Amino acid sequence: MLLQQQALLRQKLLVLGSLAVGSLLYLVVRVGSLDRLQPTCPLDGSLRPPDAGQILLRSLQFKRVLLLHELRKGNGTPEQVHLHAPVQQLPRALIVGVRKGGTRALLEMLNLHPAVVKASQEIHFFDNDQNYARGIDWYRGKMPFSFPHQITIEKSPAYFITEEVPERIFKMNSSIKLLVIVREPTTRAVSDYTQVLEGKERKNKTYRKFEELAVDEATCEVNTKYKAVRTSIYTHHLERWLHFFPAEQFHVVDGDRLISDPLPELQLVERFLHLPAAISRSNLYFNATRGFYCLRFSLLFNKCLAGSKGRTHPAVDASVVEKLQRFFHPFNQKFYQITGRTFDWP
Ligand code: A3P
Repeated sequence: MLLQQQALLRQKLLVLGSLAVGSLLYLVVRVGSLDRLQPTCPLDGSLRPPDAGQILLRSLQFKRVLLLHELRKGNGTPEQVHLHAPVQQLPRALIVGVRKGGTRALLEMLNLHPAVVKASQEIHFFDNDQNYARGIDWYRGKMPFSFPHQITIEKSPAYFITEEVPERIFKMNSSIKLLVIVREPTTRAVSDYTQVLEGKERKNKTYRKFEELAVDEATCEVNTKYKAVRTSIYTHHLERWLHFFPAEQFHVVDGDRLISDPLPELQLVERFLHLPAAISRSNLYFNATRGFYCLRFSLLFNKCLAGSKGRTHPAVDASVVEKLQRFFHPFNQKFYQITGRTFDWP
């Protein structure tokens, strides 16, 4: 009898213990993934106190959680309910390109900020005539739900090079903030080629070598008809945008530095978007296996970009690399002049 009672007690304790551990784990994951707060204990040893911006942001978040709790219980005025209900907002900032510049990494990293909500998919609203004909409400309907104090960001890299896009975006919002992420132009062109090559190989198709596509066989000059080359003439595309938007509405992100040391680049974007500084070193960690920085949302929730980001590039003939670098040089100089941002590209 006594043994039976002891066994029953042990069973009860076991169930209670598992429930307590389960709830604790649930809370840690949920708080981390929903509100994207930084871990209370940064893992990289940088125990700097949060700055004023972060404290303000956290207290705002806390107040919002309290208010939402009250609203959910039905204790809010209709105005409060309306003001604080999540809605689908049109983007107030767009990552317009450049393809293979690091557009996905930039979007995902900005999404670490509690005041930023990303549109996960590339919507291709402004560059695709069929989508554009569906109208602005269709576009809004593709946006994630967010709170009024948050900003939505969408990225579709094809926007940068598509003729009609700047005017269409201007018609939606003439004061929208525009982000352009660039990499050294020859590296970007090879990255572009690598993506197409992988697609061909997946379909068991053959594809010409990069050197054959990038250099015109007849003239031995750089082949400007090759799309991967044309896309890397950044100034050529940017100048079209400047017919609609002033240079101050653009922020150029250094895609090469976003790979090697992302935080300073993200901090520049925070400033450009007038957001309080909230992304910190503890949100990013270098993953040696991937060879890239990955994202840390909470103590238990980390994420690296998909394997399609960070492919191994094929070796390219040194003379072709040099030819391309010489070709891009004058365009790069003009790009620096227009944007006010200089890179150490060859
Ligand atoms: P590669 O695949 O050539 O290395 P996009 O998202 O615009 O297509 O850009 C893809 C590029 O993002 C990749 O090009 C990769 O170098 C770069 N990138 C930048 N930060 C990254 C990160 N944290 N993880 C993976 N790729 C990253």
